[in-house]
Amino acid sequence: MIKNKINIVIGVSSSGKSTFIKEKFGKEKICFANRLKKIEDLPNSNNIVLHINLLRWVNGEKDISKEILNKFRDNIQVFVMIDYKSEILKRILLRTSEQEKLEKIRVYPNRKVFSEVSMFYEFIYQELFQMLIELKIDMKIIHSTCHTNINLAEAENIIKNNNFKVSLTKDDREKMLSYCNFSYTKSKIKDGNIKVNHDLQSRLDFIFNKIISTHCENQLESLIDIGCDSGLFCFEAEKCGFKKIVGTELKEERFLNANILKLVNNSIVNFSTTNIFVDNYKEQFDVVLLLNVIHHLKYPIYSLDKISQICKKCAIIEFPTLSDIKFQDTTTSSLEHGPYIGVSLSVKDQSFVFSKLAIKRIIENYNMFREVKFYESPTNPGRIIAVCIK
Ligand SMILES: C[S@@+](CC[C@H](N)C(=O)[O-])C[C@H]1O[C@@H](n2cnc3c(N)ncnc32)[C@H](O)[C@@H]1O
Repeated sequence: MIKNKINIVIGVSSSGKSTFIKEKFGKEKICFANRLKKIEDLPNSNNIVLHINLLRWVNGEKDISKEILNKFRDNIQVFVMIDYKSEILKRILLRTSEQEKLEKIRVYPNRKVFSEVSMFYEFIYQELFQMLIELKIDMKIIHSTCHTNINLAEAENIIKNNNFKVSLTKDDREKMLSYCNFSYTKSKIKDGNIKVNHDLQSRLDFIFNKIISTHCENQLESLIDIGCDSGLFCFEAEKCGFKKIVGTELKEERFLNANILKLVNNSIVNFSTTNIFVDNYKEQFDVVLLLNVIHHLKYPIYSLDKISQICKKCAIIEFPTLSDIKFQDTTTSSLEHGPYIGVSLSVKDQSFVFSKLAIKRIIENYNMFREVKFYESPTNPGRIIAVCIK
């Protein structure tokens, strides 16, 4: 029977739980919740401190920590470890697994944990706070860098702050960048910096120096890049002075690259795995980029309509046409000059491709934009860039 209060230290991975426990209670008292299979496995002692990794609430691993909080709600003292998301992400990537290898414990999965924290950080702490408040559990919130107590409002500000700047040495940057894999952009890392591949650089220059500066007004504040890959168009937007920038990307590896680059560059871009075409997305942006994404979408016309709804000033859509080499492989006829939509093949990782005239008609028929102009894509002759003005 447990007589005294159980002390629980809870937080995401690398939020300083073990260090805090050692400092406050002594190393020998740690009991790891992830090693308990059922609630009865909880040691029958008054002196244990339970270490709970909050990421288990989202990563699908079996976890009994919620059950423990519920069952012992009147008899526990919870210490919630928090810090700025960027500080935690930095620790995750710089965390060495050498010690873990020596001690023959599970090697720390830096990439997986980094992705989970990038995706769920704010959400998971909100869920925890809500639960602790509802269950009326006694909680202290500890800022993990300095081990000071903070109140709930301060904690929420820290958790929501996506742009806290961390200090990094050249070695830190190199180690962090070594976790990136730029298979799609074919870019490389050189001397702790990303070296953008030539074709991509031409597209960046074309979109920002030619299209945006020619067709869009000067007062542009916000931009969303849907299907942003490793976020390089978003970082370019930041260099050009955009103040609010969002990049969405569904592929985990690409989302991970983008977040590592954000951290290394202390960037203000927000990356998200939201699918704006499925989720009830309402936020609007001055500029919307949809570059080489439409031919992967199941409902491209609905998606164009959605782009029109979230766009305040200008949408830039790069798309493969019926002359696209991959699409040409799937058919023998040449139809580039009509208003045609080509049905591609999923083995080619394409859904539909469009001729220029097809895009023009869709936009006009459904009053999506006031005007549309076309350019050839600077690096790929089978692709077109449509500039759509509201
Ligand atoms: C061909 S890549 C283009 C990347 C980048 N826009 C460029 O042009 O260099 C298409 C990207 O869109 C992403 N994607 C596809 N559907 C998406 C959606 N609904 N929301 C966000 N990203 C999406 C894919 O995961 C992929 O990384």
